[in-house]
Amino acid sequence: MKRSVRPVLSVLFLFTAAATLCFKIMISSGGGGDGGDLGYRNIVPVEQKLVPAFNDTLLRFAAVDLAEDSLRQNVEQLVDGDFRGLINGRRRSFLWSGSNRIDIRARSARGVPVNLRSPEFYRLWLVFRRHLQNWWRNHRFQPDVMSDLVNIVKVLKTNVNESDLKYKTCAVVGNSGILLKSDLGGVIDSHEFVIRLNNARTRGFEANVGSKTSLSFVNSNILHLCARREACFCHPYGEKVPIMMYMCQMTHFLDYVVCNTSHNAPLLITDPRFDVLCARIVKYYSASRFVKETGKPLEEWAGSHDGSNFHYSSGMQAVMLALGICEKVSIFGFGKSDLAKHHYHTNQKAELHLHDYEAEYDLYRDLAERPEAVPFVSDKFKFPRVVIHR
Ligand SMILES: *[C@@H]1O[C@H](CO)[C@@H](O)[C@H](O)[C@H]1NC(C)=O
Ligand SMILES: *[C@@H]1O[C@H](CO)[C@@H](O)[C@H](O)[C@H]1NC(C)=O
Ligand SMILES: *[C@@H]1O[C@H](CO)[C@@H](O)[C@H](O)[C@H]1NC(C)=O
Repeated sequence: MKRSVRPVLSVLFLFTAAATLCFKIMISSGGGGDGGDLGYRNIVPVEQKLVPAFNDTLLRFAAVDLAEDSLRQNVEQLVDGDFRGLINGRRRSFLWSGSNRIDIRARSARGVPVNLRSPEFYRLWLVFRRHLQNWWRNHRFQPDVMSDLVNIVKVLKTNVNESDLKYKTCAVVGNSGILLKSDLGGVIDSHEFVIRLNNARTRGFEANVGSKTSLSFVNSNILHLCARREACFCHPYGEKVPIMMYMCQMTHFLDYVVCNTSHNAPLLITDPRFDVLCARIVKYYSASRFVKETGKPLEEWAGSHDGSNFHYSSGMQAVMLALGICEKVSIFGFGKSDLAKHHYHTNQKAELHLHDYEAEYDLYRDLAERPEAVPFVSDKFKFPRVVIHR
């Protein structure tokens, strides 16, 4: 398909100028972040098993999803064809590339959603609704989900050997500015499978971040932005690179339905059971750290962590994904240093409380040193070796 250069450049500009993320605010991507210094390199995991001692209070606390009710309400509205939630201030339409422009207005007097009168939209909506309902049905806690992740390899690889599915070595490349002085580009590219986050560009940074990309892991807001471009262009790493995203807004299923057909490489959505697991794990680490650091009661955690907007970062879920599909996981570009930029590819300075990078670093440290201390994951799952590069 012929494609003019302009949209491509604007997409790239979009991603370099702003890593635009969920919840309509600017937050940071990957694990780049405002974290503590991990202070060690290439830790070799400890082999002997320690008995995990999970704190029941924290487990119970982390199992509660503060966003559950509003999510349910949102899903119900959309399944009913009520798209009023899409109208953001004075914006009255939901835009896609080319002819896919849908005007979203309030329901008619008889309660029939006006937008559904267009046959084109109706067809789209039926598919959208099916995906949304499936997703919602599976949106529950399932500790064994880590062991199911390996099935993703069957979608990504063309010639699969069922008895030997996993990738031998994987690199998850966070977007922290610490990468800029690292010279690790060659090391990153030497991995069999390289995961990059939120379309952070590599051009111009190859020496430090490498240039190989096997999977582009994003949040759905990135695709939502791409959906306005011709043929949903969303491929800073090339059109053959598969994209996997987690859904941060239910309306983004529309973008998924619209964009899926124009993408040659797989466009995948994370298993909602995997989302729930990741959410619990990060909340556990965040709450645990909060109590230890502040001495305040757990009840005050939500107030200082954006409450129902609290979310794991893309980087955290990409690392968790790698655990399920790789035999060895190397983590690059996660962490902060006073001397380094927040992102290697942007000038973003501030962070929001929506992510708790410090808590996520605690998790990575456990993954490297004592994975059995990670809560909520079924005993059946065998963690691969994890190495953190700084
Ligand atoms: C579990 O965590 C809660 C909240 O941090 C704390 O009050 C409680 O003492 C902990 N329980 C144990 C047995 O450590
Ligand atoms: C699949 O992988 C196993 C283990 O590495 C190997 O023994 C077997 O020969 C492979 N099968 C094929 C068809 O490549
Ligand atoms: C997305 O597109 C691919 C390739 O055209 C197709 O195989 C797949 O079924 C589509 N997925 C959905 C959920 O529509």
